[in-house]
This record gives sequence, C-alpha cells and structure tokens, in this order.
Amino acid sequence: MKTSPYILLIFLALFQSCNDSKREGAYTARSVEKPQNKQDHTGKKLMETNCYVCHSPTASHDDRIGPPMIAIKRHYIDSNTTKEEFIASMQAWIKNPNEADAKMTGAVRRFGVMPKTPYPEATIEKIAEYMYDFEIDQPDWFEDHFNEMNPGVRGKGMGKGRGQGKGMGMRHQSNQNQQQVKSYEDIGLEYAMSTKAILGKNLMGQIQKNGTEAAVDFCNIKAMHLTDSMATVHNATIKRVTDKPRNINNQANNEELEYIEHFKSVVARNKEPEAILLENESDVRFYYPITTNAMCLQCHGKPETDITPKTLLTLRERYPNDLATGYGLNQVRGIWSIKFDKDNE
Ligand code: HEC
Ligand code: HEC
Repeated sequence: MKTSPYILLIFLALFQSCNDSKREGAYTARSVEKPQNKQDHTGKKLMETNCYVCHSPTASHDDRIGPPMIAIKRHYIDSNTTKEEFIASMQAWIKNPNEADAKMTGAVRRFGVMPKTPYPEATIEKIAEYMYDFEIDQPDWFEDHFNEMNPGVRGKGMGKGRGQGKGMGMRHQSNQNQQQVKSYEDIGLEYAMSTKAILGKNLMGQIQKNGTEAAVDFCNIKAMHLTDSMATVHNATIKRVTDKPRNINNQANNEELEYIEHFKSVVARNKEPEAILLENESDVRFYYPITTNAMCLQCHGKPETDITPKTLLTLRERYPNDLATGYGLNQVRGIWSIKFDKDNE
C-alpha cells in the first residue's frame, strides 16, 4: 500500500567496527585479529563501488575503461612486496596518478592516465588490504592476455598470501559457492554502478576518439537513453538528478535535494558515503552520490580554467540555462535516484 511510511535505514557501523580493530591495546593486533571472510571484507565492497566502474573483472577485453584489478595487483606486488609497501604505493598513486609514475605503461597507452579522483585514505587502505590479502576475481580472458603481454613474468604477484604460510586457507575459497543473499543496498549499488560503467565507458570512449566537444553531443543525445535502457535491463527506475541541472529534466525534487545536501556534507568531510535506502512493503528507493573526478571537469569545471572555449561554446549552445559548471574535484554533482520492486531479482 502506497500510504505506508517509508522506513529510513542508514548503514552505519560498517566502518566503525573495522576501525576498532586498529585500536592500540595491550596485545598486538595480529593475535586478536579475527580472520575475515572474503565476502565480508569492507575493502571488497569499497573496491566494487569505487573502482569497478573502470576496473571491473567482468567487462570483456574490448569493452574496458581500465585494466582489471588483478592486472594492477600483479604489477604492484611481487614476492618481496610487504602489505605496508603495497598500501603505500596505492595511496601514492591515487593521490597523484601521472604518466611518469605509472607502472602499467601499456594501459596508459591504451586508456590514457587514470583520471585523478580524491578518495579518503581510509577507503584506499581498506581496498589495498583486501587486494593484498585475497585473490581477486579475474576476467576469463586475463590469464592468456597477461602471459602474452608479459612472457617473462608468468604468475608474478599472484594471490599474495596464497601458499605463503599464512595458514588462512579459508580465505581463498572459490567464487563458485558464494551464493549470498543480496541486500537491497547491494542491489541498488549494482544498478547505479552498472549504469555508471556504461555511461563512463561511452563517455571516455567519445572523449578519446572525437574530443570533448563531440562528447558533449554524445551526452546531450545519449545519456538519457543510456540510463533509460539500463533501467529497462534492470526493470527499475534509474535517474541521475542534481541541484544544479544542465538538463532541466534532471532537476532533483525536494526530497532528493535533502539527500544531496546530506551527501555533500559527508563528502566534504572526506568520508566514504553510505547509500540511503527507504523501503515500504512493495518497493525500495535507493540514493547514492555522484561525485566528480578530473575527467568531469572538462565539461563541469570552472569555465575560465577547466573547460576549453570551444567546449564551452558548444555547452552554451545546447544548454543556455546550464547550471552545471564551476565544480572542483570530488564534489557532489548529483545523486543516483533509483527505485525497484522488492521482488526484483
Ligand atoms: C574513471 C575510471 C577509473 C576509476 C574509477 C579508477 N581507475 Fe584506476 N585506472 C584507470 C585507468 C584508465 C588506468 C590505466 C592507466 C594508468 O595506469 O593510469 C588505471 C590504473 C590504475 C592503477 C595502476 C597505475 C599504474 O601504475 O599504471 C592503479 C593502482 C589504480 N588504477 C587503482 C585504482 C583504484 C584503487 C581505484 C578505486 C579506488 C581506481 N583505480 C579507480 C581508470 C580508473
Ligand atoms: C563531454 C562533456 C561531459 C563530461 C566529460 C561529463 N559530463 Fe556530465 N553532462 C554533460 C552533458 C552535456 C549533460 C546533460 C545531459 C542531458 O542532456 O541529459 C551532463 C549531465 C550530467 C548529469 C545529470 C544532471 C544534469 O546536470 O543534467 C550528471 C549527474 C553528470 N553529468 C555528471 C557527470 C560526472 C560525474 C562526470 C565525470 C565522471 C561527467 N558528468 C562528465 C557533459 C559532460
């Protein structure tokens, strides 16, 4: 029944509980550390929401925006790399992705340098811990491709910890029997991230092939259709809405505006945002922030410095009432506003 009130569920505690394990105590962390299960590791989910848009293990070889995570792991970890070293090198890369420091020169040639996106240090630490301790899923094509590209380094850096006497055999159980029940939050995130991946892939592809101005037209014509078509695939309503619309159809309603303000304050404090879920007995509404990285600023940044005059002209032509410029890095550009039935699979 539509009249029944939506219940607000906010997912807290997730990070709190992990931080607790780092508390300084009488005993060293190692002896009291509970072996964490792969599925439950905070870093896994953080990696899926923050990195898989471009580093997904499932995109096919020709459909990729960036290399799969397992390829990154192999370039960063060899048999001498300690966990601390690996975490530090990930932090350093994320703070300043640039061509001179890139270890994956082939990937830079193919995809261009990773767009700079500020992430909270705690987020990267968790992701790096997860990558180091667990085997991450690899796409089917990867093994052959890797061996072809790197004939001398077969197997280098494979699952650190695997067979290294860490005695945590449990950690490496195969993916086959991970039939877990997905939470509504997982479902919402999956819808948002798969749509974002499709948009991102098309956008980066357009910018690389035809330049930024041509990509404006792409967004102009295609973005709506792409989100709509993803909604059809998922049998859900998937919207990108904002407080500062370029396209007036994407104006957030009052309720959505409140969530945007909430996410702005979370992101401004450099915290990892948690999805907002509302549910009644038949359906679920899901809200999650859309933040800017370096690539977005070509079309949403400051007109004088970030957007080229030509692109600006195209934007002004297409969107005379455009409010969506002036953004900096890691700001809330809008939110995913997604609705789906509870019995959706
Ligand atoms: C918008 C797309 C995008 C997102 C999101 C993204 N990356 Fe990347 N990343 C790339 C691309 C493209 C490359 C390959 C080119 C390069 O190495 O710079 C890359 C390369 C890397 C590399 C290898 C750098 C090297 O030495 O060449 C690391 C490490 C990395 N990413 C970590 C991450 C992590 C961790 C996340 C999530 C927190 C993330 N990336 C999110 C696009 C992305
Ligand atoms: C090539 C230029 C270009 C780039 C780069 C770009 N956008 Fe946009 N963006 C647009 C255009 C054009 C629209 C309006 C689309 C439409 O008419 O539906 C838009 C619309 C949006 C919207 C919908 C709300 C609104 O204002 O209409 C969001 C959210 C958004 N962009 C976020 C981003 C983010 C996040 C990035 C970086 C990951 C990004 N954009 C990169 C051109 C761009």
